[in-house]
Amino acid sequence: MKQDWIASAGQPLHGTLDIPGDKSVSHRAVMFAALADGTSTVDGFLEGEDTRATAAIFSRLGVRIETPSPSRRIVHGVGVDGLRAAEGALDCGNAGTGMRLLAGLLAAQRFDSVLVGDESLSRRPMRRVTGPLATMGARIDTEEGGLPPLRIHGGQRLTGIDYTLEVASAQVKSAVLLAGLYADGDTVVREPHPTRDYTERMLKAFGVDIEFSPGFARLRGGQRLKATDIAVPADFSSAAFFLVAASIIPGSELRLRAVGLNPRRTGLLQALRLMGADITEENASEHGGEPVADLVVRHASLRGIEVPEALVPDMIDEFPALFVAAAAADGPTIVRGAAELRVKESDRLASMANGLRALGLRVDETPDGATIFPGTLQGGTVDSHGDHRIAMAFSIAGQRSSGEVRIGDVANVATSFPNYDALATGAGFALRKA
Ligand code: S3P
Repeated sequence: MKQDWIASAGQPLHGTLDIPGDKSVSHRAVMFAALADGTSTVDGFLEGEDTRATAAIFSRLGVRIETPSPSRRIVHGVGVDGLRAAEGALDCGNAGTGMRLLAGLLAAQRFDSVLVGDESLSRRPMRRVTGPLATMGARIDTEEGGLPPLRIHGGQRLTGIDYTLEVASAQVKSAVLLAGLYADGDTVVREPHPTRDYTERMLKAFGVDIEFSPGFARLRGGQRLKATDIAVPADFSSAAFFLVAASIIPGSELRLRAVGLNPRRTGLLQALRLMGADITEENASEHGGEPVADLVVRHASLRGIEVPEALVPDMIDEFPALFVAAAAADGPTIVRGAAELRVKESDRLASMANGLRALGLRVDETPDGATIFPGTLQGGTVDSHGDHRIAMAFSIAGQRSSGEVRIGDVANVATSFPNYDALATGAGFALRKA
């Protein structure tokens, strides 16, 4: 059933918020723990639909996963050779990360698998993974145009490759590295723009001998994983909505506790600071090998910027939030080199441009970016296209609007941030179900 929200001008934001666990880390923690020898505990696991779908898939592949309390999983690893064929298709839901990483992993198993997803995931490009995996010897059939479902033929012998990514994608890199774990010889992935390195860091934590530096990763096939406990940091991409909201709502001050600050994720922090945002880092420490800190954000007057293209991969999930910051800034903001946004959970350049236009702003779109001209946001109706981050972005825009903003099709917020509306209203948002 489709769910809509109504957002309108609320209170200045105040309080201390605990943001849920990182989606990228949660997917990988369950996957690698499932493949390990021994039992691993995952703390801070994101109870989102995407990451639960991944856990459910591993249960169906024969892995026992316990949930002793919310956000905690005990995973009884079966070893790299211990997965069992599942009856019927494996449903990745809305999760591109789930499907692409599983494609690499399942291509290397002795058995066949079928990966399916929801309407949005069924429109997302998969050749970027099936291409390099085929070069390694995998056999994966897609629908016309390289779309899901993925029909994976097991029992293939894989060979390591030296692969240079065509698009900056941690998902593609990870799929190749996971297949590489089962391949003959070395697998090398090179990236023109470094992307998030959770796969590399976490494989290392699970005892895999892997060499990596920004833009480069190499591992040898035939290695086993040793169980380890994983502490998942709070998701910077979820925190991002509150960083923007508090920046643009006068009188706001929020503390977001222990947020993951992996440098491959925090491009938005740099972009917001270039715009004049007041965000400080306090209580810096490490959480499961990842840098974390409290982020304290206060309202500030923002100015429009040209977003440096070099920041794009480090803020790839944060453009919906950035567009709203730009809408409330002084002077236009220019985004370039971000064509990848067109193949996310929705076409995010079009979703954000159309939504901001519906609220009375001018946005000029280009194939790989947009120019956002700030102005007074009016009430109106926007379509999130079933995209969680578009829905959350417009809930912030609503806090600055002169009238009510109706946001259509918001149920997918639960894929990454199930308690978003409760946290937001607790902090001062005016946001309700339609
Ligand atoms: C992710 C990588 C990114 C990001 C996605 C999560 C990951 O996708 O947009 O939300 O966990 O590896 P791409 O690697 O396709 O850019």
